[in-house]
Amino acid sequence: MRARRHHHDTLARKQALAGMTDAPLAIMTVFGTRPEAVKMAPVIQALRARPGEFRPITVVTAQHREMLDQVLRLFHIMPDHDLNVMQPEQSLAEITVRALEGLDRVLREVRPALVLVQGDASSTFVGALAAFYHSLPIGHIEAGLRTSNKYHPFPEEMNRRMTTSLADLHFAPTAWARDNLLREAIPRDAIYVTGNTVIDALRQVAAAGPFPPEAGLPDLDGRFLLVETHRRENWGDPQRQICLALRDLLDRFADLRLIFSVHRNPVVRRVVYGVMEGHPRALLMEPPDYGPFVQLMTRATLILTDSGGIQEEAPALGTPVLVLRQTTERPEGVAAGTVRLVGTDRERIVVEVSHLLTDQDAYRRMATAVNPYGDGQASRRIVEAIRYFFGRSSTRPEEFGT
Ligand code: UD1
Repeated sequence: MRARRHHHDTLARKQALAGMTDAPLAIMTVFGTRPEAVKMAPVIQALRARPGEFRPITVVTAQHREMLDQVLRLFHIMPDHDLNVMQPEQSLAEITVRALEGLDRVLREVRPALVLVQGDASSTFVGALAAFYHSLPIGHIEAGLRTSNKYHPFPEEMNRRMTTSLADLHFAPTAWARDNLLREAIPRDAIYVTGNTVIDALRQVAAAGPFPPEAGLPDLDGRFLLVETHRRENWGDPQRQICLALRDLLDRFADLRLIFSVHRNPVVRRVVYGVMEGHPRALLMEPPDYGPFVQLMTRATLILTDSGGIQEEAPALGTPVLVLRQTTERPEGVAAGTVRLVGTDRERIVVEVSHLLTDQDAYRRMATAVNPYGDGQASRRIVEAIRYFFGRSSTRPEEFGT
């Protein structure tokens, strides 16, 4: 078994090395949603920093339009190809088909040495599939996250599993993610434990300092809950239960405010505005830019979310997170004690939040800054792994966490 796995890896690498010259390698990054953009940006910057070795080509599916553009502006990224696939209330099949056709057109024109995808969105899986159809090597950033439940999160769990089966280089953020991949018989040589690039992005943005009043941030004094939800498995009743719990909490704590970053998805907006609009201490805001959002996360008393990225960012900022889902593919924050899974039951949410707002010791235990997801060096390790893969360096990068 071991010998065969090794053979598989050397084959992928041999093919990549065949016909290599000293010319800069064209590395294509493909992404389409806000979180992919945040996590891909530091990798693009690290590739750009070696112009003699790499020629980065950026392709955005623009599965998200406005939310993606914000991040592109922040990190000074001008896409080389923009497929502009977003449509109002798009179905999963529509995103998939439109992005696949668009990528196929681009790949017929440009033949990169490697295609990089990130995470678990539809753009991730479709990017890998399009590259596979063109027999190109594929690198998957943030590989190996798993819940073991096909429908939670939906469709992300399957997006990442399908991307794993297509990829040649697997950039696992943590040792836990690496072990998941090993259990699925991914060759050890093809896995690099890098840390999550979200910490690279977070550090860069935090270093830019506090945001000026023009950033449109509300008053951040006093206690407030910061909320962000968008998961498909929470559409409809679970989302409604969450909003009702938030109303209960505002009624119970007279000093408490709510800042809700309402995702642009109209399915989410209808429910959130329906239940919450008009409450004097509930601020429903358009998704802020990433920089100001980091500031909101830093200043929040508690964060309630079904987002994956926020579960990685908040522990580094020392803000406790209650996850509005049944499962998480990111158990490291739970193990570290800064993240707790609470689900979407109205009563349970009220109980959990009330406890943290009244018991100072319990709150303090959760509000300790820990950093299980990265050390700010993930993009450097990814670029070093790419250099190694293409024979431009003789050593593998050191693993994150060792
Ligand atoms: C997508 C990803 C999810 C990721 C999330 C982060 C998939 C299947 N889902 O979910 O993994 O966690 O992004 O936000 O890939 N819209 C806009 N403007 C925008 C963005 C969205 O108007 O800038 C609206 C559009 O009407 C779109 C809808 O939101 O149809 C939903 O977007 P979609 O990409 O289908 O799924 P998300 O729920 O955002």
